[in-house]
Amino acid sequence: MALQFSPVTPVLGALIEGLDLAGITQAQFDQLYALWMKHHVLVLRDQVLTDTQFERFSGMLGELDPPPNQGAGRKSVPGHPNLYVVSNRKSGSGEPLGALGDGEAQWHTDMSYLERPPFASMLWSIEIPDSGGDTSFASMPEALLAMPADLVARIERLDIKHDGTYDSGGNVRKGMAANDDPVYSVGTLHPIVITQPETGERTLYLGRRRNAYIPGLSLAESEQLLDTIWGYATAPAVTLTHRWRVGDVVLWNNLTTMHRRDAFPADQFRTMHRSQIKGRYVPAAAGQKEAA
Ligand SMILES: [Fe+2]
Repeated sequence: MALQFSPVTPVLGALIEGLDLAGITQAQFDQLYALWMKHHVLVLRDQVLTDTQFERFSGMLGELDPPPNQGAGRKSVPGHPNLYVVSNRKSGSGEPLGALGDGEAQWHTDMSYLERPPFASMLWSIEIPDSGGDTSFASMPEALLAMPADLVARIERLDIKHDGTYDSGGNVRKGMAANDDPVYSVGTLHPIVITQPETGERTLYLGRRRNAYIPGLSLAESEQLLDTIWGYATAPAVTLTHRWRVGDVVLWNNLTTMHRRDAFPADQFRTMHRSQIKGRYVPAAAGQKEAA
């Protein structure tokens, strides 16, 4: 039977109700995967899962990436080293039990400072605040389609430096030194316009705005062009905002979307378990053969 879904917006996201991830079959997974490749973000409602079931489903997408080792250590789900806790809860002694706290996370795609960035990420909602903490996504193929041809022609020959200094909460990553000079900060170059490897769709690949830089341009030219690109990338017409419910699982394609998170009240709790799928591809410029 065909998987039932409804589009979240005309250009991004598919909402799926009535599919139990705890017992998903390979045939259902194959349909889900095809839907995900087309819509880039999947919202799966009302999931009642154990961590083992969440990990099993995540593993159907590929090899899991263990949580990053941040300054405060790895925030793994107890007994599940490949799952990551995103939460503002603290232990009795005040030690954070998860990552990201209660602050805003600015637009980004996950770990794009790696040569082979993670392919997919997934959040499973355990508890949510009464207000705030919404997660927004932006469609990078749609942002590219919205651009005028002369802008596309200009940027498709250019790379962008994906800064590795700061995380999406604005904190210096473990092992890095603070550096706010986009020209000299440490990062990885990727083409601005890439091909989504499994579908051939062209898409923007931007990473984070902070410390981004386009080599070959003056800093002022780079900043101006990046602001123009980011205007398209975060335009309301290409974004969706997800208001969480407990039991939601949201899966996104890390090469074709960016995401951000709103802050939420410090006296409320928001806890999600996250899985991440290791990078399969080095982002390759449209027209080039990608490295598998
Ligand atoms: Fe993220």
